[in-house]
Amino acid sequence: MNRQTWLTGITTSGTPHLGNYVGAIRPAIEASRAGDRDGYYFLADYHALIKGHDPERLRRSRREIAAAWLALGLDTERATFYRQSDIPEILELTWMLTCLTAKGLMNRAHAYKALVQANAEVDEEGETLEPDRGITMGLFNYPILMSADILMFRATHVPVGRDQVQHLEMARDIAQRFNHHYGERLVLPEAVVDDDVATLAGLDGRKMSKSYDNTIPLFETSKRLRKSIMKIVTNSLEPGVPKEPEGSALFEIHRAFASEAQSAAYRQAFLDGIAWGEAKQQLFELVDGVLAEPRERYEELMANPERIEKVLVAGAERARETSRPFLAELREAVGIA
Ligand code: TRP
Repeated sequence: MNRQTWLTGITTSGTPHLGNYVGAIRPAIEASRAGDRDGYYFLADYHALIKGHDPERLRRSRREIAAAWLALGLDTERATFYRQSDIPEILELTWMLTCLTAKGLMNRAHAYKALVQANAEVDEEGETLEPDRGITMGLFNYPILMSADILMFRATHVPVGRDQVQHLEMARDIAQRFNHHYGERLVLPEAVVDDDVATLAGLDGRKMSKSYDNTIPLFETSKRLRKSIMKIVTNSLEPGVPKEPEGSALFEIHRAFASEAQSAAYRQAFLDGIAWGEAKQQLFELVDGVLAEPRERYEELMANPERIEKVLVAGAERARETSRPFLAELREAVGIA
């Protein structure tokens, strides 16, 4: 195998939170610093269109997510960082792939199936809903668009969460079909699932996720960060009573930001019966300290969106140096050159 190509997309719906940072942004930025591979990181704004139809929100989310990645140290000299919608070749490849993809394959996608299943459940009146109610063609075709993102840049490694592994299998399946018909041109990608990255607990103790509305934004002011942390649920154990660190949202968030020594000291404080208020204060100070510098850079970028734009436009130009000639080759291969 020659040089590896790593590629990851970030759907631009929502504001980056601590869980995104620990579970996706931090590991991706670390991986992007490894010199032995090419890296592509992009804002999946076409994917965001599947999820919502609020233009102002989409604009804001794109800006916030781009600013967050840049502020946290993504090296855009080394990695290619771009917006999906700036690469028109992706949509053209999507169509070529759409014309090869069995509808039955898409019927099996978990995200689609889950919605159909939800519609099949009887409501209070004992009625079932239309199976495809609320399902757009965008949602149905989502795995094909994602395949085009990946296959366009001949990615070999795609870091994703467990929920996305099926989409990678579909991308391989679709690439194989293409290659079968038109000759070996597309590279079969591999999913990289890192079970070591922490999934962070949220305010209510469940996994931190936008869909549970229990997130702590990554870049709010220090004052608001403190307020959020003070809201994390705990039990009613009094100061002086030993507390169990494992399974405590406070302890887990702390561990994701602390050195081993800091985490060991925090664990000991729990066993020694630290008061919850004090435990929260310590957690706040830790997280606030880690985020202070990136927060300054983030605020500066958000105040100067033209700087973000410049980086993204340069990234798109670089990405198109690959996508333009490759799409020309694929057009030739399928007979529409
Ligand atoms: N679907 C991915 C998610 O929701 C985002 C994404 C879009 C992606 N295109 C991609 C991830 C290509 C990896 C590769 O998380």
